[in-house]
Amino acid sequence: MSVILQVDRLMKSFGGLSVTRDVSLSVAKGERVALIGPNGAGKTTFVNLVTGHLKRDSGRVLIGAKDISNLNPMQRVRAGLVRSFQVTRLFADMTPEEHVALAILQREKRSGRITGSYRAMPEVMRETYDILDTLGLVALAQVPVSAIAYGQQRLLEIALAMALRPKVLLLDEPGAGVAHGDTFLIENALAQLPDDLAVLMIEHDMDLVFRFAKRVIVLAAGEIIFDGSPRDVTGDALVREAYLGSYADASSAA
Ligand SMILES: Nc1ncnc2c1ncn2[C@@H]1O[C@H](COP(=O)(O)OP(=O)(O)OP(=O)(O)O)[C@@H](O)[C@H]1O
Ligand SMILES: [Mg+2]
Repeated sequence: MSVILQVDRLMKSFGGLSVTRDVSLSVAKGERVALIGPNGAGKTTFVNLVTGHLKRDSGRVLIGAKDISNLNPMQRVRAGLVRSFQVTRLFADMTPEEHVALAILQREKRSGRITGSYRAMPEVMRETYDILDTLGLVALAQVPVSAIAYGQQRLLEIALAMALRPKVLLLDEPGAGVAHGDTFLIENALAQLPDDLAVLMIEHDMDLVFRFAKRVIVLAAGEIIFDGSPRDVTGDALVREAYLGSYADASSAA
């Protein structure tokens, strides 16, 4: 398996509070990994350090053989590392078509063009609709975001990430705020992602985690306490104590 994301000995403190403690992990091309752990465990901080939105105290981040530790977030996106946010950041007046097309233009460094002109670019339109189709959003392509259900807004976030052609996709709680009956939309969308894309997903919805991930990493108090298969995670004593107790007990009782 070829490693596409490698994190070596990452450390971060806020004042006296150590929130990322010597975290090392690697993710291979095409892997589907869930990063779980209790509230405040340091999951979002970890993602922010990897993407460069937060400055690390020490450690290294590599994409393939390239050390990206000193690059800014935009340069890391260009290196193939793309994330979605825990809270949606979309423009209410813009449509999914506009969002995705402009993300493609941004990737191609053509974002200086006047909005709307992408419609005269067949290759941009084709790619836009391919991506919207993957995420099941074609029917909503022309609808302003303000009129789209929250669950589908989260899908649009993933569509935007895809438009940047990532090698590694980091998803921070794609199911957050999505009605339980709508999480299948997220799940279906994740199942459509390219096979060679590495995906690391932070998620609290354990049903989603267990259906999506082939590998689960558990973070507690800034440290990795488990890295292994979904089958083994519920039986792990440390994990049960830190986080999963209620879920494991509920599953075995059912
Ligand atoms: N900018 C900051 N300044 C100070 N402390 C911070 C900052 N960002 C996060 N923290 C602290 O770092 C710890 C980890 O927070 P983080 O948001 O990474 O947790 P999380 O695992 O993503 O939690 P959740 O599941 O609730 O999203 C928490 O104790 C939090 O209060
Ligand atoms: Mg978080």
